[in-house]
Amino acid sequence: MNINEILTKQYLEKDDIIQLLSTTGEEMQMLFRKAQEVKFSVLDNYIHLRGLIEYSNRCKKSCLYCGVRSNNQNIERYTLSEDEVIECAKLSHKLGYGSVAIQSGERSDKEFIETITRIIKRIKEIDGGSLGITLSLGEQTDEVYRQWFEAGAHRYLLRIESSNEDLYYKIHPHDDRHDFHKRLACIDSLISIGYQTGTGVMVGLPFQTIDILADDLIFFRQKDVAMVGMGPFIPHPDTPLYQYADQIPAAVDRMNLTLKMIATLRLMMPEINMVAATANQTIDPLGREKAIMAGANVIMPNLTPNEYREDYLIYPDKACVSDKPDQCSSCLDLRMKSINHKILYNAWGDSVAFTKKREQ
Ligand code: 5AD
Ligand code: FES
Repeated sequence: MNINEILTKQYLEKDDIIQLLSTTGEEMQMLFRKAQEVKFSVLDNYIHLRGLIEYSNRCKKSCLYCGVRSNNQNIERYTLSEDEVIECAKLSHKLGYGSVAIQSGERSDKEFIETITRIIKRIKEIDGGSLGITLSLGEQTDEVYRQWFEAGAHRYLLRIESSNEDLYYKIHPHDDRHDFHKRLACIDSLISIGYQTGTGVMVGLPFQTIDILADDLIFFRQKDVAMVGMGPFIPHPDTPLYQYADQIPAAVDRMNLTLKMIATLRLMMPEINMVAATANQTIDPLGREKAIMAGANVIMPNLTPNEYREDYLIYPDKACVSDKPDQCSSCLDLRMKSINHKILYNAWGDSVAFTKKREQ
């Protein structure tokens, strides 16, 4: 089938998805333009912001791609104090970001769980509960997810990393701390508790194929998630997967493949929130803008105090590590204007897909 025909289809089959993910040159640009058109027609040109707070790099896991994995001895471990997190949240509010996202290495000790609960409640006290709260704190029990939901968090990000079980175990140790089925169950649990649930994958992993990536997109559609985050895989020298660094696609190809994933998913799920991941900007200075132009609509500017950022390098050369939050804010505003997008300040920026489903 020719690309034009596929781009006008109401429902994309797996073969269509594979064809879209395989486009190059002018056909790839056609895909990006179509995705942008679809996004404008349902979501307008608004960008939503989440002030990102990297709460702690202590982690009980050892994902084979991740720079903060517990086996990496080359970083200082830190945990922000409750007050530091609240200061970041207040800054997010002051900058008009409307929401915060709290991200951390994975921990499940009682102290961690209770501290997060207190932090959520304290953030909810800022200006009468005006900040939205997204959590990205890994796998937890149903009870913990419920406790945080009841405290006031309403969005949760838990990337599946790959929906293909074989690939999942090539990029994670195969043990009870890294269990594919447990991860799936966590995503289901988050959805059933009522979180706006987000998931996602890395793009350009060793052993990943177009067929697997097509299945990832179909997985997001089947789960009917409210949000998706996808970014290029960036090999980190202090991790086991670095040994395959010369076997993965070149940076420009990983970037384009990520953009094609975003654009194709925008056609499949027009109303979801999709983040332009910082990893995009790391492998291409204009990567975040390109992700927006391919269909993404959310950005997560980093609000972590600068002194800790060097220790939260899940991948090397992360963008904006030395930028001050207010510089970042005005830079972002300008960058979005330059590509005809408008940041919607002082709003939660919920997923339209989720809001509509809840109203049904
Ligand atoms: N390259 C790109 N993305 C990475 N992540 C972790 N390590 C890397 C890496 N080396 C992503 C994972 C995780 C998110 C927080 O960051 O998808 O879910
Ligand atoms: Fe951080 Fe521009 S977004 S400096």
